[in-house]
Amino acid sequence: MVVNDVDIAEAQKVVDEIEEAGGSARASGHDIGTRVGCEELIEGCAVEFGRVDGVVNNAGIVRDRTFLKMSDEEFDDVYRIHVKGTFWCSQEAARRMVEQGTGGSIVNTTSGAHMGNFGQTNYAGAKGAIASMTYTWAMELARYGIRVNSIAPQATTRMTGAIRDKEGKTVEVPFIDPNLNAPVVAYLMSDEGNYVTGQIIGTGGDRLVIMDQPAYGATALREGGWSVDSVRKYFKQSLGNRLESFGLRKAPYPHYDGVGVPNR
Ligand SMILES: NC(=O)c1ccc[n+]([C@@H]2O[C@H](COP(=O)([O-])OP(=O)(O)OC[C@H]3O[C@@H](n4cnc5c(N)ncnc54)[C@H](O)[C@@H]3O)[C@@H](O)[C@H]2O)c1
Repeated sequence: MVVNDVDIAEAQKVVDEIEEAGGSARASGHDIGTRVGCEELIEGCAVEFGRVDGVVNNAGIVRDRTFLKMSDEEFDDVYRIHVKGTFWCSQEAARRMVEQGTGGSIVNTTSGAHMGNFGQTNYAGAKGAIASMTYTWAMELARYGIRVNSIAPQATTRMTGAIRDKEGKTVEVPFIDPNLNAPVVAYLMSDEGNYVTGQIIGTGGDRLVIMDQPAYGATALREGGWSVDSVRKYFKQSLGNRLESFGLRKAPYPHYDGVGVPNR
């Protein structure tokens, strides 16, 4: 196994643990936020171990800022590392697995934040893109015996250490052992998990949860289609009282009385 982290000392710690447990691994320090970094990472795995059986896309960063204040740089950095890094590593690995004819497994890392999370336009959007890529690759790659899933983990890590409140102070979060996410990843990578694809699995702490797939819900039909007049006349009574709650915390729909403009 190749364990990659741009901070190679972190990767080496994982390698040491794997070797202590009797496994075989090598650390690498490629930047997965570049195509060439992903190419070299996957190439290095193929050279060292003779083939590629799977890839776990776990690297990530946060650059939280409210939508009105977020810069292009904050948006692009998060997208490059999460979305493009996942795209590049998976594509390099999948091309090899197709060539080998061996099948394999891809495990991406999304987040409940993709449901919408205050201060995380870049991160929520990136994690939503990863969820959508997961469904798409599961459809495209099944014919090659490659399955594609995501985890939506929970853990106390360096990333959660970066959470700040509105005053910019560090937020204390209850400790969740990061190790508790790993067994599901191991299962999804193993031959025993060979029937699971296209799924997002919430992991961490005591939980193991399948995320509902996005789907069209409440529907109103009108013969001949909807005009501006008929939407104005019937929207509120047909669907307007069935609006969905939104965001990670799923509070009941809060705006039935209108999304008011504040008084100046
Ligand atoms: N911690 C949580 O509760 C939580 C919740 C949902 C999703 N996630 C996701 O889990 C994954 C792991 O995050 P974590 O919480 O362990 O955070 P972490 O900061 O401890 O780990 C992320 C690692 O990615 C590495 N990395 C960053 N940019 C890289 C690059 N360009 N190339 C190679 N490596 C790079 C970092 O050096 C770091 O070691 C991330 O994708 C994160 O978005 C975490």
